[in-house]
Amino acid sequence: MCGIVGYIGTRHAAPLLMQGLRRLEYRGYDSAGIATLENGSLFCERSVGHIDALKEKIGDQRPEGTIGLAHTRWATHGGVSEKNAHPHRACNDSLVIVHNGIIENYRELRAELQATHTFTSDTDSEVLAHLIEVEYQGDLRHAVARALKKVRGTYGVVVMHASEPERLIAARMGSPLVIGMGKGEYFVASDATPLLPYTKDVTYLDDGEIAELRRGEVRIYDLLEQSVQKNIHHIEWDDEQAQKQGYSHFMLKEIFEQPIVFRDAVRGRKIPEEGTAYLGGLNMSEPQMRAVSRVLFVACGTAYHAGMIGKYAFERLARIPCEVEVASEFRYRDCVLDENTLVFAISQSGETADTLAAVREARRKGAIVRGIVNVVGSTIARETDGGTYIHAGPELAVASTKAFTNMVAVILLYALQFGRLKHMSLAAGQEFLQAHFDISTKMEEVLQQNDEVARIAQRYVHYRDFLFLGRGINYPVALEGSLKLKEISYIHSEAYPAGEMKHGVNALLGPELPVLAVMTKNQLYEKMRSNVEEVRARGSKVILIATEGDTDARAIADDVIFVPQTIEALEPLLNTIPLQLFAYHVATLLGRDVDRPRNLAKSVTVE
Ligand code: G6P
Repeated sequence: MCGIVGYIGTRHAAPLLMQGLRRLEYRGYDSAGIATLENGSLFCERSVGHIDALKEKIGDQRPEGTIGLAHTRWATHGGVSEKNAHPHRACNDSLVIVHNGIIENYRELRAELQATHTFTSDTDSEVLAHLIEVEYQGDLRHAVARALKKVRGTYGVVVMHASEPERLIAARMGSPLVIGMGKGEYFVASDATPLLPYTKDVTYLDDGEIAELRRGEVRIYDLLEQSVQKNIHHIEWDDEQAQKQGYSHFMLKEIFEQPIVFRDAVRGRKIPEEGTAYLGGLNMSEPQMRAVSRVLFVACGTAYHAGMIGKYAFERLARIPCEVEVASEFRYRDCVLDENTLVFAISQSGETADTLAAVREARRKGAIVRGIVNVVGSTIARETDGGTYIHAGPELAVASTKAFTNMVAVILLYALQFGRLKHMSLAAGQEFLQAHFDISTKMEEVLQQNDEVARIAQRYVHYRDFLFLGRGINYPVALEGSLKLKEISYIHSEAYPAGEMKHGVNALLGPELPVLAVMTKNQLYEKMRSNVEEVRARGSKVILIATEGDTDARAIADDVIFVPQTIEALEPLLNTIPLQLFAYHVATLLGRDVDRPRNLAKSVTVE
């Protein structure tokens, strides 16, 4: 995820900004840039790749000035290139901005501005620089406030103008910014990490606020330019804690980020009036899409489970035959592929050796190959002929959580887009999007039960085996819950489609084997309920994931975690979260190294 750092004070800004960028590296990035201001002239340098590459580019030019801003970019709109790196300048080279977030109406704004402004990048962010330039009449704060009124989307933005060396302007809508209060100097950054060596006194900007940072003071305004009073918080965190934003582990932070990154994954990709989605990176015309006769997901680990959900969703929504296969099997199988087979390679890292080999094999055999990838510019992203970034931001915990949800989010939009080109009616598409609309709020509701899940985990931590059950689209959810538990707690667990129990696994049931079952209200509810009753009858303890308002659930379970109701296709986005939390709490209670479990790697680049 992009990082921002800005400084105004009495010290030489450039070294502070470069140090700030290094402290933001943990967020992941693909390019970086810096701008400082001295004697009315702007210094600006950008580079693709590491901060060292930027340092090399700056070389022995000595960026002067005691005011400046800098940025690490994680590409969203526009590829990874120097021209797309921040800071972005407007036409007359006096104004410079760094921006996090997505300007949703940038296409319209760009089209309006294009006649009179020259654009030098493919980004949505540059549009904002030109908009502010249009509004600029000698007062940068007014210009920023006016420009932001025209913008739809999210931003954390910091702006500097060559004629105003005495102030930096920062504004926030949906993309965090924090201001560090030093002595006679101020910092602004996308999180507190870069500020901590200099100050632990901070003010958090809220949505719709604009900050004016001067050497002697900081003032904060709302979008109507009325002054706002803010509290100063004292941060007690050390560096690692700051990167974890106060969470005890990266995994917990990433679980809690799911509502936010889900919004990032779907933003700008839905067309409610047409009841469909549009994932431009697919690079296929509508006739080509209609000609797809078979979809194949290849992936490993958690990404494979996302693919399994994709199979249920694609067959249900798009009515296209669909298969999913573990990449390490696919690559050595004589799989029959043709030019109407669409292969999706799903991967958080974009570097998993087996998935990459599967991509190469599928391309060799003439299939259409696309990526569903998190890390921008990764090998799988480059070697597929298109696809979609899932925008989960950097995922640092080895056990994948938020990347899984965002893989599912993107696959569901693909299923909708294909469905609407084939059998699905406008009404059905709109109904799907209607349910989709408040999923992130419902995810937040699920997360509010974290303490309850922790209490439940406490009651089960001493068991040595677990069984996870699900049916239909919740079977892969059970598999994913089981995988999470195995990965980070080192407890043995299995996941089964509940209807298959009587063919073997029933023999294991009894007081020593607790069962986690996903029994939400969908078309298989009654079937699942019978399976749960069978489990209970054989003496196993039962923890249920059930739909809010299901009054029967408590009667047939020892513990219940309730989730809000949604349509069946979207259930995995909610139902997975309590299982992630359960695994997390069991593992922490056992004192495991949750973020770095033994014998596992985040990115498996060897076979
Ligand atoms: C490793 C990770 C898993 C991940 C799998 C696939 O095993 O520990 O969390 O699901 O690789 O990784 P990918 O980056 O391709 O999604």
